[in-house]
Amino acid sequence: MGLNVELLERSFAAVAPKAEELAEVFYGHLFADFPQVKPMFENVDMAEQKKKLIASLVVIVNNLRKGEVLVPTLEQLGARHLDYGAQEEHYPAVGQSLIKALAQVTGDAWNEELTQVWSEAYAVITEHMLAGAAKRSPVATV
Ligand code: HEM
Repeated sequence: MGLNVELLERSFAAVAPKAEELAEVFYGHLFADFPQVKPMFENVDMAEQKKKLIASLVVIVNNLRKGEVLVPTLEQLGARHLDYGAQEEHYPAVGQSLIKALAQVTGDAWNEELTQVWSEAYAVITEHMLAGAAKRSPVATV
């Protein structure tokens, strides 16, 4: 997949013990920096949502070497996000907030290289989620 999987795994393992804090900080940044997405989470149980987000990040990172598992998982996740109202333009907001949260929770051990590899990984994740959404979207036939 061309990603620096080893570095992604290592850096994620370093924040895993602080996963709850990561989720907390992530949504904090997302809602502060991109208040336009807040209404989408209005009726969502955020305690549950934080757990689901972390669980999905764990699945993603654990399967970076297994494209045959990762790609369909991301495509299905992307397809479900159509129901949540997630649009293509929302993905950079989530990516930016996630990387900001990873950097914050990692602390001094964070560096430019990590920003780079996580940005690349997020781009790949987005690509597959959007591909899954596109497959499910009904094609307009006028
Ligand atoms: C890396 C990208 C993303 C990941 C890993 C992710 C992960 C998840 C997961 C695991 C859930 C729980 C429900 C399910 O599994 O279907 C969820 C729900 C949700 N996601 Fe995402 N998501 C991502 C991107 C986005 C984006 C770009 C948006 C748009 C703002 C978004 C908005 C939502 C909303 C509103 C829900 C709540 C659904 C509900 O319970 O009504 N997500 N996300």
